[in-house]
Amino acid sequence: MDVLGIDIGGTGIKAAPVDVAKGVLTAERIKVPTPHPAHPEPVAEAVAGLVTQFGWSGPAGITFPGVVIDGVTRTAANLDPAWLGLDAKALLEKATGLSVTLLNDADAAGVAEVRFGAGAGQRGTVLMLTFGTGIGSALFTDGVLVPNTEFGHIEIRGKDAEKRASERARVDHDLGWGAWAGRVEEYLSHVAALLSPSLIIIGGGVSRKSDKFLRYLTGLPTRVVPATLHNNAGIVGAAMAAVPPPGQARRSPGASRARGARRPAGTS
Ligand code: BGC
Repeated sequence: MDVLGIDIGGTGIKAAPVDVAKGVLTAERIKVPTPHPAHPEPVAEAVAGLVTQFGWSGPAGITFPGVVIDGVTRTAANLDPAWLGLDAKALLEKATGLSVTLLNDADAAGVAEVRFGAGAGQRGTVLMLTFGTGIGSALFTDGVLVPNTEFGHIEIRGKDAEKRASERARVDHDLGWGAWAGRVEEYLSHVAALLSPSLIIIGGGVSRKSDKFLRYLTGLPTRVVPATLHNNAGIVGAAMAAVPPPGQARRSPGASRARGARRPAGTS
């Protein structure tokens, strides 16, 4: 079954139809810049434009770069504060005319990576971290997501971690790969000390460039691997969240899910 996946980021909005059984895009993805300022209405219009470009009328999964609970956006570190407390699911459904499932971007990317990518078959505690405009996190225990973790905002050297170690921080502060990897390693060692994961997956745009920085991450107690779906993980995970896993009927929002029913709680 194909579902439209849309990944709203602080810099760009990407979309493509996804074969959710295989975790692959079935058409070339389209990317448009995130409007600035990133007020809800222009962002919703940009999303609607992508839906029109694909001529889509089926279900859609959409990611948001902040906490999402029951379709309401609760944080928006890299978008406009007008998103705080907004019924964003309702706004996006009105703008697109589609039935929308909305979830955190890193949670979506993690769901895709744990099902089809670097985390497939991994038991225990797995942490996916996405490095882009911010740092997103998705925490799994035996494949089950704990939604809306925000480990990109722990404090390191008196600063929000994502301000020091995101991909944007690397570019904005003009850091070489070694210098940036030093910051990432310091960050990862804090997170590893808090969570003792058995695997850390590095996602986001930098996952394509792992040959440039992975070799510097030598002092960590945890195995660190690059994501394999790269920047498409958010699109794939968004689409996956919009349909129940095979063999499972759609549950009413808020219903508890069995282990392995990977549609994250907090989505609607
Ligand atoms: C947000 C997270 C998001 C991450 C990546 C952070 O600033 O707080 O919710 O997952 O950026 O977009």
